[in-house]
Amino acid sequence: MKRILVTYWTKTGSTKAVAQGIAEVLDAAGLGTELKALDEVGDLWSYDGFVIGAPVNGLHWKDEALAFVASHKEVLSAKPTALFLLSIMYGLGRPSARRKAMGLLDPAAALIKPRKLGFFGGVMAGPAPGILRLAFGIPKDAPLDSRDWPAIKAWAAELALALA
Ligand SMILES: Cc1cc2nc3c(=O)[nH]c(=O)nc-3n(C[C@H](O)[C@H](O)[C@H](O)COP(=O)(O)O)c2cc1C
Repeated sequence: MKRILVTYWTKTGSTKAVAQGIAEVLDAAGLGTELKALDEVGDLWSYDGFVIGAPVNGLHWKDEALAFVASHKEVLSAKPTALFLLSIMYGLGRPSARRKAMGLLDPAAALIKPRKLGFFGGVMAGPAPGILRLAFGIPKDAPLDSRDWPAIKAWAAELALALA
């Protein structure tokens, strides 16, 4: 059975929950997944593939995730790897904000040529401040949780085929 590491950085848990949802789909497809926080990960060469997720903070894919990709780029380039992000501007923003979010994995992708990139809505602790609503076009009555679980599960099912 192939061993796939699904690893994530999270502050408030929403990225972990998405990583867990992805791992469940990969498991159901017959892959053997391990779910770990980025800072719990040990040797990578024993795995057959990787899924790495982190939220967007301050218009960047979380620094720790980019640093992880940079410091392990040899093994991550040698084996199939997928990257994903959670982002409020992707989940709730106007089209230009969504497009901007879709560029935020480019620095990591340039290092390893990943098999698949995933872009998912994120979770806000409270209503978006006016400045954010204005900057990204987030509606006043937007939901706090913009994770689209059917889209996440569909992405993971496609990924399972690429990793099998
Ligand atoms: C300090 C901070 C900065 C953020 N900056 C952005 C941002 O620039 N663009 C964006 O789309 N989302 C931004 N977000 C939203 C997060 O990406 C979103 O809340 C995500 O679901 C958090 O993931 P976590 O629960 O795994 O920590 C920010 C959140 C925080 C807390």
